[in-house]
Amino acid sequence: MQISPSILSADFANLERELRRISNADWAHVDVMDGHFVPNLTLGLPVVEALAKVSPIPLDCHLMIDDPDRWAPQYAEAGGSSVTFHIEAAGDPRRVARDLRAAGARAGMAIKPGTAFAPYADLLPDLDMVLVMTVEPGFGGQSFMADQMPKVREVREAVRRHGGDIWVQVDGGVSADTIEQCAEAGADVFVAGSAVYGAQDAAAAVEELRALATA
Ligand code: DX5
Ligand code: ZN
Repeated sequence: MQISPSILSADFANLERELRRISNADWAHVDVMDGHFVPNLTLGLPVVEALAKVSPIPLDCHLMIDDPDRWAPQYAEAGGSSVTFHIEAAGDPRRVARDLRAAGARAGMAIKPGTAFAPYADLLPDLDMVLVMTVEPGFGGQSFMADQMPKVREVREAVRRHGGDIWVQVDGGVSADTIEQCAEAGADVFVAGSAVYGAQDAAAAVEELRALATA
């Protein structure tokens, strides 16, 4: 069970300090938004490159951008240890995943709430993680969509059948109130933005989430 706090809810004027607040987490989740694939704009390659140099934990880059075929491998080269692209935006997803691995990153594929997993199940051999979105991508602090749990189960079952070390991540509205049902459905990597950075003691919030997911 791994916790990946999203720095989307952190203080963007002090990101190095904000990363140190979550140094007990497994990953730092970095939400890259381009203002096209989603109606919000956050940060890009130069910032990821700078964060990778100072982060005490590996970066889990979630690319909510158009044309991941062109850009995703560059996030691996910039220092993303895990790089996740959206299937809805990819031209040739198998090639994107292979390029990510060739660049030394774990390759993740993200699925929006309205997108079915089944048509993409044959991509599993080229993937290290499947991210099931539990909100519409674009903003932190939205309500958890429990109706995505059947999809988490479906992905977990496909991963189990396939074998190998493929992780199932959930992202959006994950908190102390919702993390247990995600774990129960088969998720093993949990992204939490507001639930971690909104807490007075972010490290304690990470430990609480980990304990709930493991229970
Ligand atoms: C949403 C982002 C999430 C977001 C989660 O588009 O992908 O990573 O930061 O924030 P919370 O945990 O507040 O829903
Ligand atoms: Zn995210």
